[in-house]
Amino acid sequence: MKILIINGPNLNLLGKREPEIYGSETFEDHFTKLQFHFKETELSYFQSNIEGELISKLHEANEDFDGVILNAAAYTHTSVGIGDAVAGISVPVVEVHISNTFKREEFRHHSYISKYAAGVILGFGLRSYNLAIQSFLDKTGVDN
Ligand code: DQA
Repeated sequence: MKILIINGPNLNLLGKREPEIYGSETFEDHFTKLQFHFKETELSYFQSNIEGELISKLHEANEDFDGVILNAAAYTHTSVGIGDAVAGISVPVVEVHISNTFKREEFRHHSYISKYAAGVILGFGLRSYNLAIQSFLDKTGVDN
């Protein structure tokens, strides 16, 4: 199973950025743990602060991956374009957030992506990504 994790703007700052909300681990460190934990799964990771790059990566992923885990970060709440990209591809996309966006400001309660996502996982810290990977594996009956 090939899964691509796509992270949006400011998630390159994880570990340093608002640690009281997002924790003190970098995504690179967490990604290494994910690779160790899900040994049988071919995991890839892409991060960009640029909306169009995220859209192009979603288009590419449609050809190459069995599943996508997308944390579009702030673009979740603003980007019709990313929502349309998710709607327009056939690879299943699980939307992920580190924080529980419903406990936060009102503007974070709306997502342009959720309507087109296979599912949404949020509020479990970086473990949200583990749960998203597991959701793909459960579906195909694979444990690891
Ligand atoms: C986030 C939540 C968004 O509201 C925020 O803009 C982010 C991160 C999360 O993972 O909790 O950058 O997507």
